[in-house]
Amino acid sequence: MIVLIGFMGAGKTTVGRLLAARLGLPFADTDVVIEQQAGRPIREIFATEGEPGFRALEHQVTAGLLAGPQAVLALGGGAVQHPATRRALGGHDVVYLEVGYAESMDRVGRDEFRPMLRNPGLEEIFRQRLAGYRAVAAHTVSTDGRPPEAVCQDIMARLPQVTDTHR
Ligand code: S3P
Repeated sequence: MIVLIGFMGAGKTTVGRLLAARLGLPFADTDVVIEQQAGRPIREIFATEGEPGFRALEHQVTAGLLAGPQAVLALGGGAVQHPATRRALGGHDVVYLEVGYAESMDRVGRDEFRPMLRNPGLEEIFRQRLAGYRAVAAHTVSTDGRPPEAVCQDIMARLPQVTDTHR
């Protein structure tokens, strides 16, 4: 499994779709699967069950996808905070898409569908998550000021053993 992680606005979904198309692999975005399984949008899950309820569901969905057929997966920005999700990532090709806080906010800052954006401590959460992303990723690719195609190329260069078999 090729798994893209990183903060909101890192480009996990955009780059993930591109990468999957280039490799002829299916693409899945955990946020979309969570909404399908719950039958409700993420902001509603946050509103009714709170962040802990969302995190439990997120782990369940992520672990299920990781155990499924080969694909490119885009994880939600907070997914790797869950210890069992971190364990489930072992043995997969985890790529961290790095984005600066300012650029992340430029990309997603006004999105009403991302409840974490209303968290007053968001910048601190961003800082606290950085070490976690690095710790679980085998590769880190910078995205600031770079088009998705360039980021996709970088990932393919980092994962030759995976990409060669699918080109
Ligand atoms: C979250 C990121 C979102 C989504 C949820 C919570 C977070 O995913 O999972 O709104 O805690 O950072 P993206 O990173 O795809 O925006």
